[in-house]
Amino acid sequence: MEAVAPTPASMPGPVSSDALVERLFNATIAAMDIFSVYIGDRLGYYRSLAAEGPATSAELAARTGTAERYAREWLEQQAVTAILAVDDAGEDTAARRYRLPAGYEAVLVDPDSLTAMAPVAQIFAGCVAPLPRLLDAFRTGGGVPYEAYGADLHEGQAGTTRPQFRHMLGQAWLPAMPDVHARLLADPPARVADIGVGLGWSSIAIARAYPTCHVDGFDLDEASVAVARANVAAEGLADRVTIHPRDAGDPELAGHYDLALAIECIHDMPDPVAVLRAMRRLVGEGGTTLIVDEKVADAFIAPGDDVERYMYGFSILHCLPVGMVEQPSAATGTVMREATLRRYAEEAGFQAVEVLPIEHDFFRFYRLTG
Ligand SMILES: C[S@@+](CC[C@H](N)C(=O)[O-])C[C@H]1O[C@@H](n2cnc3c(N)ncnc32)[C@H](O)[C@@H]1O
Repeated sequence: MEAVAPTPASMPGPVSSDALVERLFNATIAAMDIFSVYIGDRLGYYRSLAAEGPATSAELAARTGTAERYAREWLEQQAVTAILAVDDAGEDTAARRYRLPAGYEAVLVDPDSLTAMAPVAQIFAGCVAPLPRLLDAFRTGGGVPYEAYGADLHEGQAGTTRPQFRHMLGQAWLPAMPDVHARLLADPPARVADIGVGLGWSSIAIARAYPTCHVDGFDLDEASVAVARANVAAEGLADRVTIHPRDAGDPELAGHYDLALAIECIHDMPDPVAVLRAMRRLVGEGGTTLIVDEKVADAFIAPGDDVERYMYGFSILHCLPVGMVEQPSAATGTVMREATLRRYAEEAGFQAVEVLPIEHDFFRFYRLTG
């Protein structure tokens, strides 16, 4: 048997079969909690309880245009699982009033909150939408197209990153490269290429933080591009932010930019080296490329910590399969280790990779130059 390195992991090693049963039973309840949060978010239940106050099942159903019997079952489930509070559990079922406990808005309602978890429930629901296709992909070695995961995946993804972009991209992440930060503020107006832009929120945040800067966002997924364009227009930034439906690995991709960045997408790409090569070309020799990707461990360790478990979970459900649609594929998966990114950067022609000293639980920031 292969030796397992000692680790500060949060998981114990293999346990007794009774303990495994208990663990998986608890995991099933936890997964149900996540899907119940998905229901509460998508149907506006949490928003209604936050904005309009405590409700009985009939009141909540009327406020949200949903069916009372379902609203009642969901409210009871939420109280039993201790997400919502019930004012008097002894009341008759129709008279019971449920409320969102103080402080829970930041987790379940506020889309700008850095502790929002409703988008995580949404992305999780998106991840399991194409399960039959996922099983086929495991059997055949093929992939599952990004579109097959539907709007929940890309809306959930944007929901998790948008607050971070809004609060940190222009305030902490880009200022961690003082020369780049200064250039983005200077004249003539700087140009930024935002690769794998998704719903556009990173480009929007950059344009807001740097008031003369022009941003070109690129994404392959047409549904995401359409939403990103609408978001840019709604934010009144169409004069400085343009979203292009393009494969970032396209050797024809032209232009000259002061900064090219790719957030949470290099590990999804079948040909990450082609995309890094394109980014290097777009910024020229003195330019900067910023890759923001998962902060996974330096090497495979089992059992792993919670971040590693989380990333492998997304990898088997989504990131590896989307990266396998095109063949041949680098087949990276979510768990793109630092050494892997360094190898890709070197193959793309970069001379240097610096990990920026930015505190973050899930992301690592790589500055690529040369
Ligand atoms: C996980 S999402 C990240 C979106 C956004 N950057 C964020 O952090 O919220 C990955 C995005 O990369 C895009 N993508 C994947 N391969 C691409 C390629 N070769 N060229 C352009 N976009 C690509 C996908 O369509 C998807 O929108």
